[in-house]
Amino acid sequence: MIIKSVELKTVIGVTTKGIPETGQPEIAFAGRSNVGKSSLINALMNRKNYARVSETPGKTMTINFYHINGEFYLVDLPGYGYARVHNDFKAEWGPMIEGYFRDSGDLRAIFLLIDIRRDPNDDDLMMFEWMKGAGIDPVIIATKADKVKRQEKIKRLKALENVFHVKVIPFSFLDKSGREEIYEVIDELLT
Ligand code: GTP
Ligand code: MG
Repeated sequence: MIIKSVELKTVIGVTTKGIPETGQPEIAFAGRSNVGKSSLINALMNRKNYARVSETPGKTMTINFYHINGEFYLVDLPGYGYARVHNDFKAEWGPMIEGYFRDSGDLRAIFLLIDIRRDPNDDDLMMFEWMKGAGIDPVIIATKADKVKRQEKIKRLKALENVFHVKVIPFSFLDKSGREEIYEVIDELLT
């Protein structure tokens, strides 16, 4: 995958009516707040902070559509599960994201991100079920792979694969390891 152009094209907030029909494949990134969704999207786009990243959970509050090479979209979603926004999330962001999953005619794939150090929680499992219910097989990415040593990494990946029964791709924003494998998955999705 060669990134020729990147443009933040569409932003959907809780007050936006309806889901845009982009007419091109969309690949969405879901996961708990702070898991590294925006960081991964930046790595894929080869940009430093085009998708805004923060140490404070709850940074991304809108659904952001990044148009890549004029051909497809990477879609950054608000994270779930952060205490301060949790109730708002349930009330507003939850339905917004669910509405997007349900109504988008162009959603081609969803990457579900899990912190490699953590076991999936109820929110993650619910997300996974939602996606499967929407007829989409999520691709699981274990983020922040730099936070664990080699042996622990292998152990954690196995534990996640036992939960989700699909291959899990480890990714680190620091050295961008895993990026090529994710590009390959995207290339395959787009062909
Ligand atoms: P929300 O928008 O709040 O849902 O968060 P997000 O999932 O978009 O996370 P974001 O990309 O903003 O990253 C959250 C924090 O984790 C930031 O401080 C990042 O620098 C850090 N981070 C993200 N990816 C990695 C990684 O691979 N390794 C390490 N060590 N830190 C990471
Ligand atoms: Mg974000």
